[in-house]
Amino acid sequence: MRQNVVAVMMMCGVLLLKGAMGQENGQEERGYVERGRELYVRHCAACHGVDGRGSGPAAAALRKKPADLTVIQKAGEEFPLYRVMTFIDGERVVPAHGTREMPIWGKVFRRAEGEALKQLEIYALAKYLEAIQRNRGR
Ligand code: HEC
Repeated sequence: MRQNVVAVMMMCGVLLLKGAMGQENGQEERGYVERGRELYVRHCAACHGVDGRGSGPAAAALRKKPADLTVIQKAGEEFPLYRVMTFIDGERVVPAHGTREMPIWGKVFRRAEGEALKQLEIYALAKYLEAIQRNRGR
């Protein structure tokens, strides 16, 4: 429980820091997107597909079809960065019913890198997903 509170605070910290910096400098932004793309290809493409549309090679074996990640953002709306980060992290998501078919990435990234880096990895992944939205700028 306490761990969860710390994780939420850290995630908010990362987002606040980003907000406070206002206009993110384009180079740093591209750095996150690029890092996110690498992580995506390594960890996510098997299910969601290299193009993000949900038909990776492992998708057929799942009961639930992986989401099309290129349409998370609805036309005329902002990309829901925080919601996406929370979903990827997965450790604080309590599904209303059934089991979640998608792995809990928060655990994987924490094991690999520790809490602070984990938040940055998840942020990078979310920034990558933001970059591939088909409704971006509509
Ligand atoms: C084992 C297959 C699998 C892998 C690997 C996987 N996902 Fe998923 N993902 C799913 C499935 C199935 C869903 C459908 C929703 C659910 O599980 O509740 C989903 C849903 C999502 C959603 C929610 C989309 C929405 O519209 O709300 C996001 C975001 C997402 N995945 C991101 C990722 C990222 C980023 C990775 C890599 C770190 C990843 N997924 C790896 C199977 C997978």
